[in-house]
Amino acid sequence: MVQKPSPLPAHVAIIMDGNGRWAISRGLPRLAGHRAGTENLRRIITACVEFGIKYLTIYAFSTENWGRPREEVEGLMHILEDVIDRELNELHKEGVQLRHIGHLERLAPTIQEKVLQAIELTHNNDRLILNVAFNYGGRDEIVCAIQKMLRDNVKPEEVTAELVSRYLFTAGVPDPDLIIRTSGELRVSNFLIWQGAYSEWYVTSTYWPDFDKEEFRKALDTFAQRDRRYGGLSETVKGNS
Ligand code: IPE
Ligand code: IPE
Ligand code: MG
Repeated sequence: MVQKPSPLPAHVAIIMDGNGRWAISRGLPRLAGHRAGTENLRRIITACVEFGIKYLTIYAFSTENWGRPREEVEGLMHILEDVIDRELNELHKEGVQLRHIGHLERLAPTIQEKVLQAIELTHNNDRLILNVAFNYGGRDEIVCAIQKMLRDNVKPEEVTAELVSRYLFTAGVPDPDLIIRTSGELRVSNFLIWQGAYSEWYVTSTYWPDFDKEEFRKALDTFAQRDRRYGGLSETVKGNS
């Protein structure tokens, strides 16, 4: 029986950063870091299932990552394909439902096809909802939401925060309770900029390929100690006034 941190976040989102530096620090090419990153992702998904986390969103490729050298971009595309080929059946067996957030259009047709098949195969699973942010950007998501609302002739007075949420790629998914960023950068890098309005943050200097189950547990334990006030007052302060 696994000892579970409590309370658990319902939705954890992870900026899986530091693959390149992990590789360079070992004298390896950056792509070796990305491959090691996917192996680690497998471990963290299993840990989420064990702990009973309901939603996991992972930042795998941003709308800004197209600006990297061509070989790295192509390498990342291949890695996505390989991961689907290698892991899909196991993930399906574990009860993981795969979803995608971002734009598929710019990806090669074979990759689009694979992603859509993976979504179709797993759509009835409900143990863990895994949102893969690939070719995802938070600003792009909001721009798309506005375009869709205008196309639907939504009237200005009908626009509310709830409605905007329903027009995002993450429609129907609760906002992330906890956002983890590995490798130490203190920035949001265009990730879930709307949904993260009241997320708790956990940043560690550990590079993503080394962020193991114990580190993950540490992040969850830290989250369990947080006092989420949402602009109000904590229960203890309220009780004393
Ligand atoms: C994160 O690792 C993965 C992607 C952005 C695809 P990086 O590739 O950004 O690694 P660093 O930050 O250069 O070390
Ligand atoms: C964020 O990491 C994107 C992903 C992890 C996919 P980056 O490495 O691209 O972010 P910056 O460039 O350091 O802001
Ligand atoms: Mg990086």
